[in-house]
Amino acid sequence: MKDLLRTADLSRADVDLLLDTASAFAEHPLRSATALANKSVAIYMTKPSTRTRLSSETAVAHLGGTPIFIRGDELQLGRGETIADTAKIISGYCDALIIRTFAQADVEELGANASIPVINALTDDDHPTQLLADWLTIRENFGPDVKGRKFVYLGDGNNMSHAWLIMGAIMGAHVVAATPSGKWAPSEHIIAKAKEIAAKTGATIEVLHDPEAASKDASVLYTDVWMSMGDPESERSEKVKVLSPFAVTDNLMSLTAKDSIFMHCLPAHRGEEVSASVIDGPKSVIWREAYHRRTTIQALLYHLTRGELKGI
Ligand code: CP
Ligand code: NVA
Repeated sequence: MKDLLRTADLSRADVDLLLDTASAFAEHPLRSATALANKSVAIYMTKPSTRTRLSSETAVAHLGGTPIFIRGDELQLGRGETIADTAKIISGYCDALIIRTFAQADVEELGANASIPVINALTDDDHPTQLLADWLTIRENFGPDVKGRKFVYLGDGNNMSHAWLIMGAIMGAHVVAATPSGKWAPSEHIIAKAKEIAAKTGATIEVLHDPEAASKDASVLYTDVWMSMGDPESERSEKVKVLSPFAVTDNLMSLTAKDSIFMHCLPAHRGEEVSASVIDGPKSVIWREAYHRRTTIQALLYHLTRGELKGI
């Protein structure tokens, strides 16, 4: 496996290896302090980022490498140089490329034309590195056995809902996306892919439209912003109205399992997709989850640059 372009690129064995290594990095951040010595990692983002940017830069630094951050408007790509040419140029200077942008197809074209590992740091369709941090946090809370547990995403059927369904399928979990029906439901091709993976791993995939039924006895309630980067502002008021029943409130949390947790990839909007009393309450694990963005990206860079991930 050269690149991590989609969550579905990962096998269960890859995820287990990455989470084990990330746990070790959580205990000893500098345990592989020369793994990327004399190497550099380009981090190219055409959308804003707090966590992914900083955790990627610090992960590279902790591995002894040099991160090179490039804003979307800084490359000749923005002036018409092709993705393929850009991929070949960056491959000549750097040892890996982390990219956040809009179109999934652009990330895949970069991966196909670069000789170095390319990592998807969020597209409109997917957010694979986030799910590594999420599942390390889940494993820390519940252990590795997912049997009898329900893992529920509530809200917009966006990139996060996609990654949630696919990673849950890889992990053999009972995974649920509770979203509006229609244009804010997860994409059909993602649901089909999650079911295809689930047929091999024993996972259960449920997409439903009733937030209370979804929350009942859940081990995890997960949500994300209602307006993603790039979403048209003209749709805001309609979207907020349609999504409001999916807000994670104390009422929904009260339906969950006794040992349930609340998760959110962040950034959060208190009073929209989640109540302040939930995200700042005792069941919230958001700070540990955000911390693991670094440990998991560090593990991903470590294994991907050494050619140690097998893929599917
Ligand atoms: N969760 C996440 O990807 O956050 P940023 O947009 O701040 O990177
Ligand atoms: N769905 C959000 C996730 C942010 C981490 C977005 O794409 O903006």
